[in-house]
Amino acid sequence: MNSFRIRDAARSDLPRIVEIYNASIPGRMATGDLSPVSVESREAWFNAHSPAKYPLIVAETNDRKIIGWASLSVFFNGRAAYRHTAEVSIYVAPESCRQGVASALMDELRARCPKQGIRSLSAWIFGHNDASKRFFEREGFTLWGKMPGIADMDGVERDLDIYGLRLGGPPEGWAPKAQEAATGKS
Ligand SMILES: CC(C)(COP(=O)(O)OP(=O)(O)OC[C@H]1O[C@@H](n2cnc3c(N)ncnc32)[C@H](O)[C@@H]1OP(=O)(O)O)[C@@H](O)C(=O)NCCC(=O)NCCS
Repeated sequence: MNSFRIRDAARSDLPRIVEIYNASIPGRMATGDLSPVSVESREAWFNAHSPAKYPLIVAETNDRKIIGWASLSVFFNGRAAYRHTAEVSIYVAPESCRQGVASALMDELRARCPKQGIRSLSAWIFGHNDASKRFFEREGFTLWGKMPGIADMDGVERDLDIYGLRLGGPPEGWAPKAQEAATGKS
């Protein structure tokens, strides 16, 4: 694969961001959306992100193809007490998985948290999404809670797990695995 770099998303990236998101829907693992979303329907979501507080970042190859994206978003109901907590989302294009893209995106989000006042990260993951659970566990996230059977996916009740990470400092043994890829050196 081409090396890639991480940068803030631009509005012109939104169609590709949506395309990558939509690619995850048929698998019924990553999101509660059950049918593809339109670019227009994601405008407000896009506008709710900014490099200053809730970044939306993309991984872009040398030939300028976006192969993954990640965001920090307002946690839960956005009330004041949760201002130091953010929800993480990461989506990688299927053909670019297992190449360190999500790790590089996560490294970048984590690097931004201190200056953005984020002290805790939360990821909401379906109980049957083993790839994502392994990914977040490897990043140092642990299981904080389980909401049993709350998602109806084509008649199958699925658990929603809450994973979290306190950012008081990196967990023992954590190292930014994808730093070389993120800086385009690999
Ligand atoms: C989960 C996801 C983000 C991982 O992205 P990725 O770029 O493939 O992840 P990386 O290559 O950085 O993998 C880092 C580590 O995570 C774990 N991991 C990632 N994908 C895995 C899989 N399919 N099975 C098991 N472990 C996996 C591994 O430990 C991996 O390290 P390794 O490749 O050295 O074994 C990607 O599969 C994805 O986009 N899934 C659909 C969307 C989704 O579920 N998002 C999470 C909800 S927000």
